[in-house]
Amino acid sequence: MQRGRFITFEGGEGTGKSTQARRLAERLERAGIATLVTREPGGTALGEDIRALILKDRPQDPLTELLLFAAARAEHMTAVIRPALDDGTWVISDRFIDSTRVYQGKLYAIEPELIALLEKYTVGHEIPDLTLILDLPPDAGLERAASRGTLSRYDAERIETHETLRQGFLEIATSEPDRCVLIDGNLPIESVATAVWHAVTERLLANAV
Ligand SMILES: Nc1ncnc2c1ncn2[C@@H]1O[C@H](COP(=O)(O)OP(=O)(O)OP(=O)(O)O)[C@@H](O)[C@H]1O
Ligand SMILES: [Mg+2]
Repeated sequence: MQRGRFITFEGGEGTGKSTQARRLAERLERAGIATLVTREPGGTALGEDIRALILKDRPQDPLTELLLFAAARAEHMTAVIRPALDDGTWVISDRFIDSTRVYQGKLYAIEPELIALLEKYTVGHEIPDLTLILDLPPDAGLERAASRGTLSRYDAERIETHETLRQGFLEIATSEPDRCVLIDGNLPIESVATAVWHAVTERLLANAV
């Protein structure tokens, strides 16, 4: 049996990751490919507990967050992602290693060596086959949030933070072009889904079926 493919969606807050992860899974299923959608932090009962724990009581030390996320990821890989891939199921994760690199590494300035070491022991060789990085200018995110009536998440004070995150994801897309495809998230949902499908077809589907 052919091993499943591992796809991740990355990008800042509100860029459309969850929307596009669902859309892609539906499209793969329609193409006859068994697909599992999962997310980080989370993806297992323990991981979801860790996620809830962090959201409830935001740790003061960024290292606490990094280590808790790493624990959740170890479990996620062993209990969910690796078995699914072994089974021939395609796995789509809503956020993964690049969010750690950008949030903990770039925003909270934890040493890249530590992040890389944890990545090595949790993920090992099973890095994603394809990472779709959704790019959206912070002001477009602000508009999106405003139209949804949840402006607080995107308040003006945090624009700088969103720009830092955006640059972090852009740097990854540039430095790892074999794994990553940058997708313009500032288009209607349908158009983004078409760009995502094009990337998947070109990078993974041509030699999978
Ligand atoms: N291309 C788009 N154009 C306009 N609105 C969109 C688009 N994609 C998603 N949205 C809307 O923007 C909001 C955020 O989308 P979504 O939840 O998919 O983003 P996300 O990246 O998963 O966000 P988060 O980081 O909060 O998990 C949702 O209300 C969604 O319906
Ligand atoms: Mg989401």
